[in-house]
Amino acid sequence: MRSNASGAQTAPPTSSSSSEQRRVPVHVAIIMDGNGRWAQARGLPRLAGHRAGTENLRRIIDASMDFGIQYLTVYAFSTENWGRPKDEVEGLMNILEEVIDTEVPRLHEKGVQVRHIGALEGLRPELQRKIRESEELTRNNKRLVLGVAFNYGGRAEIVHAVRRIIADGLRPEDVDEATFARYLYTAGMPDPDLVIRTSGEQRISNFLLWQAAYAEWYFTPVYWPDFDREELRKALEEYSRRERRFGRVPTSKS
Ligand code: FPP
Repeated sequence: MRSNASGAQTAPPTSSSSSEQRRVPVHVAIIMDGNGRWAQARGLPRLAGHRAGTENLRRIIDASMDFGIQYLTVYAFSTENWGRPKDEVEGLMNILEEVIDTEVPRLHEKGVQVRHIGALEGLRPELQRKIRESEELTRNNKRLVLGVAFNYGGRAEIVHAVRRIIADGLRPEDVDEATFARYLYTAGMPDPDLVIRTSGEQRISNFLLWQAAYAEWYFTPVYWPDFDREELRKALEEYSRRERRFGRVPTSKS
């Protein structure tokens, strides 16, 4: 095992044992795309798609634990999403607040640690308070770390990290990749091994720009509300067939 930039344990970048590489990813990140089109296809308002997406997230959290995933990070609201119609933005804020009220106690019982990935500033004060309380309540849970990227943008995260590094008075020679990673919202989490994007789009969309540098990507045309346990299993199976080389040459078979 080696430590990655954030100091967490990950599997070796190269290994003579291919069975070692045929394993469950430690950290899966998901761009939950296609809620709007899912709703539109059914003649429903977009928010109905987000609600169906929220139901699905509950199922995928359970499936992730069953499959042995240790970290699951989901993209729930990007810094760019503020540009959506006011009703939709308001609706997504309300969904997060409801999820915190109803789901976090259940997640806590199941041993899930909730981590907010993104900026608290800009969210309404009540929501900020609830997010902080959820993190505090679940901070010692070990079964699954659920990162909720909400009001998150990869570039903004990097700028935020640079500002904090400067404010902390670090000298240029103090800053290396490991130090930098500790200033990101994901500090202490291993980098994602697998990033899934649903709904057929094949873009990064400002998600985990630093952290996903060596991630495997999996794109599926399935809309997020329909991305069920079986679809997750297919993604994990595809991941297990890939050889991760981390910029090195293929592992020798001899
Ligand atoms: C992208 O689909 C989805 C979002 C911007 C929101 C994702 C949010 C959830 C699944 C709800 C879970 C929420 C929390 C707070 C945990 P889209 O609306 O861009 O779909 P489209 O591309 O088909 O329009």
